[in-house]
Amino acid sequence: MRTPLVAGNWKMHGSQAANGELLTAVRRAGEAARGVETAVFPPAVYLAQAQQALAGSPVAWGAQNVSDQAGGAFTGEVSVDMLRDFACRYVIVGHSERRALYGESDALVAEKSARVCAAGLVPIVCVGETLAERERGDTLAVVERQLACVTQRLGAESCLRIVVAYEPVWAIGTGRTASPEQAQEVHAAIRRQLREVSPAVGDAVRILYGGSVKPANAAEIFSKADVDGGLIGGASLVAADFLAIAAAAERVKR
Ligand code: PGA
Repeated sequence: MRTPLVAGNWKMHGSQAANGELLTAVRRAGEAARGVETAVFPPAVYLAQAQQALAGSPVAWGAQNVSDQAGGAFTGEVSVDMLRDFACRYVIVGHSERRALYGESDALVAEKSARVCAAGLVPIVCVGETLAERERGDTLAVVERQLACVTQRLGAESCLRIVVAYEPVWAIGTGRTASPEQAQEVHAAIRRQLREVSPAVGDAVRILYGGSVKPANAAEIFSKADVDGGLIGGASLVAADFLAIAAAAERVKR
């Protein structure tokens, strides 16, 4: 059984005051939750605040990005050892905003994933097609290419540790979510690809759906067999919404 994961990607939002309230609510709900894991991803400067607010609770925290380099003269970058210093469990890698706005290639995403695994943290590897790619019928090919680059770089042993997030680019922040059937089709293809790495990897790796998940659509999406939770953007900034989404995962995956 894979424990569902509901992860909140705060992106470049937050302030010490606003985070404080959100973290308190998330902690309270996380302590009451059964059978679902929750995690938050604040901007890096607030990781210490997240650690302080969540330490000792079942709620995990992690970073939205990491350097592919171990350390040194890389102005503006944050290393995985620094993330470990703040007890991060997860790191999001290859989010479509990083790929599209900061030019991250499949190869760089693979390097970052390897760096994260080697440090004992868990990469949440994001994959997903643009609208043009979907309309061309290239969805499965694009997702396969993005994921293959990571699995080949990591090898089967490290792949056991990863989480995959399927996030169709056209559904991120648009209010337009993939239908549960569209999500399941891609998740099933990802699962097959992971099984080819090894049957154990196929069974163990959680595949999250991301892209305009809201309390109103979460249960329907999470009810699909190969959807093991969600990567939540906008709705993760509103405590009641994020907690309702986590509760939906708890209900549906019981
Ligand atoms: P969204 O973002 O929920 O606001 O669509 C999801 C994400 O980018 O991870």
